[in-house]
Amino acid sequence: MKMSNLLFGAVACALSAVPFGALAQQPIVIKFSHVVAHDTPKGLAAEFFAKRAGELTKGKAKVEVYANSTLYKDKEEMEALQLGAVQMLAPSLAKFGPLGVKEFELFDLPYIFDNYAELHKVTQGAVGQTLLKKLEPKGVVGLAFWDNGFKSFSANTPIKTPADLKGKKMRIQSSKVLEEEMRALSALPQVMAFSEVYQALQTGVVDGTENPISNLYTQKMFEVQKHLTLTEHGYLGYAVVVNKKFWEGLPADVRGQLEKAMQEATTYANKIAKEQNDKDLEAVKKTGKTQVYTPTPDEKKAFKKALAPVHAKMESRIGKDLLQAVYKETGFDPNKL
Ligand code: LMR
Repeated sequence: MKMSNLLFGAVACALSAVPFGALAQQPIVIKFSHVVAHDTPKGLAAEFFAKRAGELTKGKAKVEVYANSTLYKDKEEMEALQLGAVQMLAPSLAKFGPLGVKEFELFDLPYIFDNYAELHKVTQGAVGQTLLKKLEPKGVVGLAFWDNGFKSFSANTPIKTPADLKGKKMRIQSSKVLEEEMRALSALPQVMAFSEVYQALQTGVVDGTENPISNLYTQKMFEVQKHLTLTEHGYLGYAVVVNKKFWEGLPADVRGQLEKAMQEATTYANKIAKEQNDKDLEAVKKTGKTQVYTPTPDEKKAFKKALAPVHAKMESRIGKDLLQAVYKETGFDPNKL
C-alpha cells in the first residue's frame, strides 16, 4: 500500500517533468507530507503555509497537506522526497541521520537548550543556516526551522529518578544521540516510526516514550501512558525541506512568493508552538488518564547529571567545531549540567 504510494508518486513526478510553461494554467502542486496531527504546531503551520502560498502566488501554486502519516511514514517520507514523489516535508531534526546528515542530532542532546530563546540563537542564526546547507548534497533544500517543544518522559510506572527508567523499553526517533540518551539511563531504546507508537504502547511492545506534550496529546498517548514527568530534557523541532530539483525548477517569481509564505509560516509556527504545548498539557491533565508530575529541582538535577555524559560521547558524531559553535551561541556548558 505504502510502496504503491511511492511508485504512484514517482510516476506523478515523471509526468510533472513537463516544463512549467507548457501547463501555464495548471497550478503547480506541492505535496507536503507529515506525520503528526493537524492540530499540532507543525500541522497548523503547514496549513498556514498552504493558505499563504495559494494567496501570494495567486493560485499559481497549490500546496496539498497530508497529515498524520496518511501518505508516508517517517522513513518512507524521506525517500519519497528524494525521489520527488512528494515535494515538501518537515521531519523532526532527530530524523536526518539516516539521510546522512548526522549533525542535526545536536538538537537531541540532553538539556542543550534551556528555553526557546536560546534555541532560536541557533536555529535563526548563522549556525542554523550552515546546517541547512548540509542538506543540499542530498538533493534537498532546507527552507526553515519550525519549533515544537521540549520533550518529557512517559511510562506506565512513576518516573521520579533516572533509575525509574532502568530496563524500560523506550520508543525513540531514529537518532543515535537519543539512543545514547536512553542508554545513559540504562533504558532500552527502540527506534520506531511515529505512526506506530500508540499501538506499541498499548500492546506493551514498548513501555514508554518521550515527546513534547502536543504529540502525546494529539496522538492520544495519554490513553496508554499512566505517568508523565515534566523532565523537559530535550528539544524536538523540525526542518522544513523541499526537493532541490523541484525547487530550483520553479519559476523565479513563484519561488520568491513561496519563500515569503514560508517566512510568514515560520513566524507563525514559532509563535504558536509553546501555546499549543501549554494548552495540550492542560488538556492531558483534564483527561485524568495520565498523572502529570513536575520534578523537584533536585530530581531534575539528577536527570541532568545522568544525561550529561551523552554530550562528550556524541561529540565526534556531531563534530567538535559545530558543537562548540552551538555552546558559544547559547552559553551552554556541559560540565555544569
Ligand atoms: C516523533 O517521531 O516522535 C516526532 O518526530 C513526530 C513529529 O514529527 O513531531
